[in-house]
Formats: sequence, structure tokens, C-alpha cells
Amino acid sequence: MNRFDACPKIFFGENSLDYLLRLPQKKAVIITDPYMVSSGTVKVLTDRLEQNQMEYVVFSKIEPDPSIETVAAGLQVIFREKPQVVIALGGGSAIDAAKAMLYFCVRFKSGLMEQQYIYQPMFIAIPTTSGTGSEVTSYAVVSDRQQGVKVPLSHRSMIPAVAILDPEFTKTLPANMIAYTGMDVLTHAIEAYVSPQRNDFTNMFALEAASLTIQCLPPFYRDVNQTRMREKMYSASTMAGLAFTNSGLGLCHGIAHTMGAQYHVPHGKANAVILPYVIRFNAGIGKYKRPGVKHHYAELAKKLGLTANSEEELCWQLAMTAKVLCEQFEIPTSLSGCGISEQDFFGNMDQNITKILEDACTKANPVNVSREELYSLLSDIYRGE
Ligand SMILES: NC(=O)c1ccc[n+]([C@@H]2O[C@H](COP(=O)([O-])OP(=O)(O)OC[C@H]3O[C@@H](n4cnc5c(N)ncnc54)[C@H](O)[C@@H]3O)[C@@H](O)[C@H]2O)c1
Ligand SMILES: [Fe+2]
Repeated sequence: MNRFDACPKIFFGENSLDYLLRLPQKKAVIITDPYMVSSGTVKVLTDRLEQNQMEYVVFSKIEPDPSIETVAAGLQVIFREKPQVVIALGGGSAIDAAKAMLYFCVRFKSGLMEQQYIYQPMFIAIPTTSGTGSEVTSYAVVSDRQQGVKVPLSHRSMIPAVAILDPEFTKTLPANMIAYTGMDVLTHAIEAYVSPQRNDFTNMFALEAASLTIQCLPPFYRDVNQTRMREKMYSASTMAGLAFTNSGLGLCHGIAHTMGAQYHVPHGKANAVILPYVIRFNAGIGKYKRPGVKHHYAELAKKLGLTANSEEELCWQLAMTAKVLCEQFEIPTSLSGCGISEQDFFGNMDQNITKILEDACTKANPVNVSREELYSLLSDIYRGE
């Protein structure tokens, strides 16, 4: 039996935030990051809650790649305030942190009482990047700073009940964040499309997300004020999320998680750098000649309008498209270009390989990868070869 979850109600487009005016609940906790407070963005949200005569408490301590300690601090606020609604406002970090808080909240209570007595607040996600797709996924990524790893949690109970995609919230994005988070979308779409768990539904969302990203990310990057492009990238991000929450991701995310935890490379930037190499590796082309999933990449390339005489050439073109986008967005095309020293990179190679192989995304990769192959792939990504 197969299953495809398309859970949250999605409100999108201008004024979609007005959905909050309809909420019958009376108390909310808002989980967000400090920028959302200092920039006045959270006020746009709290104004609506006040209009609806809702009480609220703001927890705004979420840092990029939220830590277990931050999640624990937010969890205390949820226990103390007992909200009827939890609203996450921010990028993937704020949404993931809120998800992890709710996950641990339910787990904690299930140790004390039976499932039917556990009250779970309604969960609303308002992404301000486009993005991680976290507003529709069952995943949350939490950082264990002591171990230097990013831990992906996965549980259906973390899927928000409602996602609000109001283009008001992405108009403050700086160009580099537009590029990083947009390349994260492309990576989600491509990894979902070649996943062993792919199906007609995940393929449909992944293809549309990749197509929208290739078309709309460059104009959005050049001019954040184009409302139409902002809306399209929101759609792309959410569609890619719907695809990968059902199909899983792959090796590119496995490597990106470790590069993020170990060297603090922003998530989308890490994916952007790594993606072209993983396409070649998984397709089994060029120096990585061996059985791979060439056919799926070639099919996607063709559907995206790329033309070539062979499946191998189509895979090259897809990898090249991702690389050209990086160059256009001034994203380095190697990990050495991300400021990681050679000593730091090769000195930690062994432990990084172990972490990457243990990552749940690597385990979902369509092609098995050995330590030796990973060593050679990582060396290539570092040197840009
Ligand atoms: N749950 C999932 O399914 C999933 C998928 C992919 C990535 N992730 C995780 O999400 C995190 C990355 O999220 P992200 O890339 O959205 O960035 P982020 O949430 O980490 O935010 C990065 C920075 O951008 C700022 N920012 C966010 N929105 C802004 C806006 N509209 N204007 C100006 N600045 C803004 C934030 O304040 C922050 O300083 C990583 O921890 C990653 O592992 C989760
Ligand atoms: Fe991602």
C-alpha cells in the first residue's frame, strides 16, 4: 500500500495572513527569530492577532540551525503558557524549532498520560524564506552542537495544520538568502525526483517545483520587489516540500547537514555547492562511471526542456544547469570556496564521512555509497574537480 500526505491547509497570495482573523482560539505562542522582531515583521503578525482579540507570547530566541538547548527553552514556554495555537514565523530554523518543541511536548506527555488525553495545540507555519518547505513536511532538523551533527527528526505529528504563504514576508530577503534558499528548493525537487520512494504524486510536485525554480529564481534574485516571482518561489518551495516529505531526500542533503554542523555553511548554500557533484555521482557519469539512476535524472532534464542526444548528456546538462545557477548567484562551486581550510576539511575527513553515512538522508539515497567513494566525492567537491 502506498501513501501520499498532502496535509496542511495552504493559504497563499496577498493578504493570506488574514486567515488569522478567523481563528476562534484565544491564546497563541509565536516561535520566531530575533531578526523578525527587530525588523518589525512579527508585528505584522501580532497586529492581526490583536485585531482578533487573541492573547500571545513571543519566543524569539531561534538561531540559524536551532540547537537542542533552544528547543528545550521554547518547550518550557509552551508548557508554561499552554497555548491553543503555536505559530512559527521565520525560515526553516524557526519552523523546525517549533516542530521539535511540539514533538517533544507530545512525547513528554505520552510518558504521563494516555494518547487520547494529550492536548496538542494547533500548529500554523508561516515561512519567510522560500525555502525549506518545512511548512508542509514531517521533518525538523535540530543541531547537537556538542556532537557537531544535525539531527533530522521525522514524525507525521510535526506536519503543520495550516501553512500561510503571504508574499509580504519574503520581500525583505537579501539576494544571497534568496539564492541559498532557492537552491535548497531545487535540491529538494531533484532529490525527490530520483528517490527510491518516488511515485506519480511526488514526481508531479518535484517537477513543477524544479521548473518554477529554474524560471523564477533568477528574476527574484535580481529584484525582490517582483511580487509575482516571490509568489512563484513560495509555491515552488512548498511543492518541493510536498514531494520530499513523501519521498525522502538523498546524499546531497546528507553531506550538506554535516557541512552545516561542522563548518557552519548555510544549509541552502551547502546544497547549491554539492548538488552538481551528487547528480554526476548518482547518475554514474564521467569519472563516477558505475550503475546509477541516470534514467531518472535524464527524464527530469528532458521534462525541464533540456535537450541532448543521450541520457548521459542530459544528466550532464542538468548538473551544468545547477552549476550555472550557482555562478549566476555568486555561490562558490567548491567547498574550498566556502572558506573551509584544507587542514580542517581533510583533517576531519574520517569523522565527517562517518556522520554523512549515518545521516538519514544519505540512507535514503538512490545509490549506495561506500567510505572510499565518499572520500573521493568529497575531495572533488572540496577542490571543485
Ligand atoms: N524541515 C525541513 O523539512 C527542512 C528542509 C530543509 C532545511 N531545513 C533546515 O532549515 C534551516 C534553514 O532554514 P532557512 O534556509 O529558511 O534559513 P533560516 O531560518 O536559518 O534563516 C537564516 C537567516 O535568514 C533570516 N531571514 C529569514 N527570513 C528572512 C526574511 N524574509 N528577510 C530577511 N531575513 C530573513 C533569518 O532571520 C536568519 O538570520 C536549516 O537548519 C536546515 O537544516 C529543514
Ligand atoms: Fe534542504
